[in-house]
Amino acid sequence: MKKKGSFTGSLGFVLAAAGSAVGVGNIWRFPYLAAKDGGGLFLIVYLVLVLTFGFTLLATDVAIGRRTKQNALHAFGAIRPRWKFLGYLTFLVPALIMTYYSVIGGWITKYAVTYLTGHGDDAAADGYFTDFITSRVSPVFFMLIFLAVTAFIVYRGVEKGIEKFSRFVMPGLLLLIIGIAIFSLTLSHTDADGVTRTGLQGLGVYLIPDLSGMTPQRFLGILLDAMSQLFFSLSVSMGIMITYGSYVKKDVNLGRSLGQIEIFDTGVAFLAGMMIIPAVFVFSGTDGMASGPSLMFVSLPKVFAEMGAAGTIVGLIFFVMVIFAALTSCVSIMETLVASCMDLFHQTRQKMSLIIGILSLAAAAVICLGYNVFYFELTLPNGQSAQLLDVMDYLSNSFLMPAISFLTCIFVGWIIKPKWIIEEMEASGHRFTRRRLYSFMIRYVTPVIMAVLFLQSTGLLNYL
Ligand code: PFF
Repeated sequence: MKKKGSFTGSLGFVLAAAGSAVGVGNIWRFPYLAAKDGGGLFLIVYLVLVLTFGFTLLATDVAIGRRTKQNALHAFGAIRPRWKFLGYLTFLVPALIMTYYSVIGGWITKYAVTYLTGHGDDAAADGYFTDFITSRVSPVFFMLIFLAVTAFIVYRGVEKGIEKFSRFVMPGLLLLIIGIAIFSLTLSHTDADGVTRTGLQGLGVYLIPDLSGMTPQRFLGILLDAMSQLFFSLSVSMGIMITYGSYVKKDVNLGRSLGQIEIFDTGVAFLAGMMIIPAVFVFSGTDGMASGPSLMFVSLPKVFAEMGAAGTIVGLIFFVMVIFAALTSCVSIMETLVASCMDLFHQTRQKMSLIIGILSLAAAAVICLGYNVFYFELTLPNGQSAQLLDVMDYLSNSFLMPAISFLTCIFVGWIIKPKWIIEEMEASGHRFTRRRLYSFMIRYVTPVIMAVLFLQSTGLLNYL
């Protein structure tokens, strides 16, 4: 039996898990959802959900990983052989996400290089983003660079690769994001119509709950947006936290570590909003808060261009920071695939990193071509129009993840019982303070909400 890697201690685990959790979801998706969903109202809803659902799902994944010492693929089967299928189902999520996360990583790398070479103004021009992603070679090239770095870190192993990289990157990321957020608040701009907008007014747009036109239906929409954001952001229900949990030593106080991961992930998302919303508001007003990829790749470059010379530097720092956030996340996805395949095929980490790296490259190249050679427009069951990348995102995040969470809740809440998880949370000799909340959430509340989320994102809710 080969020796399994492990994190050196609690800090190594917290930073690596936070590295997985903090990614483009925090920096790009969270701010636009907040802008779209009533500012402060979204923030309050999200915070409540993190402390209840987020914590429940995170504790479940990490405790299953540490207690079984197995990766996602085998953990469920190791507890109850009849539930082996859930491990295989869970394994599908990182496999699907892997196909497109490195494509987005490549886009970010391209933008960082554009700012580095002093061509930031080009990035602000209309059509730049579309021209880039629809071109045939460039997106594949930048994806390849991003993927190669990811594979190299995974190749180096848990301690020397993942932990070392996260220890170096995560504190730096936090400092950068705090710096740019403060800078955003100091901005002020007068547009062609003579209207002056300030960063502090933008902060108001972000923080003050906007209840105008609120209906129960709209509130349900906000709740579901916040819930799916939570999954993606905390990297739960996709086997990643099970795999990372299996590398945690028995003496680590899991309850405390989970609290720190939640704070890190939510804190970075909150700061990302504080950095992006005031900046976009100052230069483009509330109309600039476009949703989807255009916020990061179209609206922000325009904001940087408005800043003049400083914009090139701020743009560069911003995209380098996003590269690091995306890298630590992509590493966690690839690690989950590599660890599972090492077990499955009895191969070394080095060999598996290489093979998974090459397979990921082939899959990601196909996704890149989804914007030209394989272009199509498909309407998803939730009403969104989608290309290949969106289809993968939909299948993994909107379809599989709620289904897996639902099944995991049934498994833990009713088959092995919450006590199984609580025992592991307390295995280090520390009390699991939120144990009552945990048991209640995993048995009753979470499965119901997951079922609603599943019905909503598959469009089935409309038929009921
Ligand atoms: N949690 C990461 C983010 O917020 O961007 C993204 C992520 C990492 C998603 C790992 C999925 C995943 F498997």
